[in-house]
Amino acid sequence: APAEAPIAGEVARGNHLFWNSRPPQKAYELVAQPIQHRFHAQLPLNSAWGWGGTVPGPTFHARYGEPITVRMRNALPAIAQHTGFGRPEVSTHLHNLHNASASDGFPADFYETGLFKDHHYLNMYAGFTLPEFAPLGDPREALGTLWYHDHRVDFTAQNTYRGLSGFYLLFDALDSGDERDPNPVALRLPSGEFDVPLQIVDRVFDQDGQLLFDLFNLDGIIGDKFIVNGKIQPFFRVARRKYRFRLLNSGPSRFYEFFLSNGASFTHIANDGNLLPAPVAAQSVRLAVAERVDVIIDFSNYAIGDKIYLENRLEQVDGRGPTGNILPPGQGNMVLEFRVDRDAPDPSRVPAALRELPPVDTTAAAVTRVWDFGRSQGAWTVNNAFFDANVIRARPRQDTAEIWVLRNTSGGWSHPIHIHFEEFQVITLDGAPPTLRNAGRKDVLELGRANGSEARVFLRFRDMKGRYVMHCHNTVHEDHAMMIRWDIV
Ligand code: C2O
Ligand code: CU
Repeated sequence: APAEAPIAGEVARGNHLFWNSRPPQKAYELVAQPIQHRFHAQLPLNSAWGWGGTVPGPTFHARYGEPITVRMRNALPAIAQHTGFGRPEVSTHLHNLHNASASDGFPADFYETGLFKDHHYLNMYAGFTLPEFAPLGDPREALGTLWYHDHRVDFTAQNTYRGLSGFYLLFDALDSGDERDPNPVALRLPSGEFDVPLQIVDRVFDQDGQLLFDLFNLDGIIGDKFIVNGKIQPFFRVARRKYRFRLLNSGPSRFYEFFLSNGASFTHIANDGNLLPAPVAAQSVRLAVAERVDVIIDFSNYAIGDKIYLENRLEQVDGRGPTGNILPPGQGNMVLEFRVDRDAPDPSRVPAALRELPPVDTTAAAVTRVWDFGRSQGAWTVNNAFFDANVIRARPRQDTAEIWVLRNTSGGWSHPIHIHFEEFQVITLDGAPPTLRNAGRKDVLELGRANGSEARVFLRFRDMKGRYVMHCHNTVHEDHAMMIRWDIV
């Protein structure tokens, strides 16, 4: 029997409320293991690492307000037997979960082969079950498209490149995951086989068709093969009806701007982990690393046999990051093909109102902190210092709100900044109020490529205390060492 890594269990006021009176309702085990994976029929098998033995790992369907426990077991090759890139030690972060610190996958909380850790996922804000939120909870307290990935300090880029990530979806009374839900509050968005998470990554392969990770590139790895849910530029058979697609860019470094190849518009319904207040018609969506966008695409006006592509038209220049220039139709990369091949009934709908936003009261902000994402001593830094797991760079107080100013002081690269624990709302980006791209509740924000690009964001620290991090989610920058530890006290 493997020895047990420390069990998570730190929730300041929520502790006995949840651990004792509201224990996990379900328990899962997920094993990180070496696997042989085929990215394309014309490529040889690759030695990848997969949670649950697959790339990407299994998709969780969880319910907001229902705590679960996930036992994360490390069955990767031991360090002595390990070959190639990556480091067979894991600390799993559930990206955008409102999470107790001990279950958050702190980068230095990694553990080796043969050990496991039980992550307690409360799946709620601790105030959610207080009587004033009864009986359904506050509908504004919710989460949707989340994902889990390795966060081992210094090796996150390599370990996630090797395959350690997957989706984690949350449902609640409004976004119930049932397009036939008779509950009058239910949105009835496309569900089941018509609700499709799409993990989009890029990779480099060597002459033998094996995954290549350039350890000497500290700027960002830009691949020339696009992989959707583990397959290179695949096709997906669709019925003539509406679908919900949850697009995730899980990196390591490239950004995308996706269009439908025929110029058709679609409906943009969610940014990152939450629905927007209302659906918006769009012709493209942009995704920096770790961002998610949920869209509804309606295939009902196509004919059986039609093919439509998800096309990335964001130009990438010499691996130095996106220029922001959009390529013309047909000159981008066809990342995924939709093949219309059948009819199917469609009881789903896209209501005019989705989910209200929690209020932003900037006058309530107790503190303003400024963070410079830059370059010093030849590497990536925040406020001119490297990440150190033992150095606490900010101590926001529990039950307060703050404004954080995020600045790009390196220029040259855009930095997709991710703050753990609590979503933020953007007050301004480069002096202007946020556009649709940054509307709603965000957990990743793309700072502009120009030196001096600046965002002001509002965030609250409510129920829990403990250690969290903020970092650039270009995972190569993150590892070298554009990240800070901050603690709620
Ligand atoms: Cu998606 Cu700190 O990570
Ligand atoms: Cu960066």
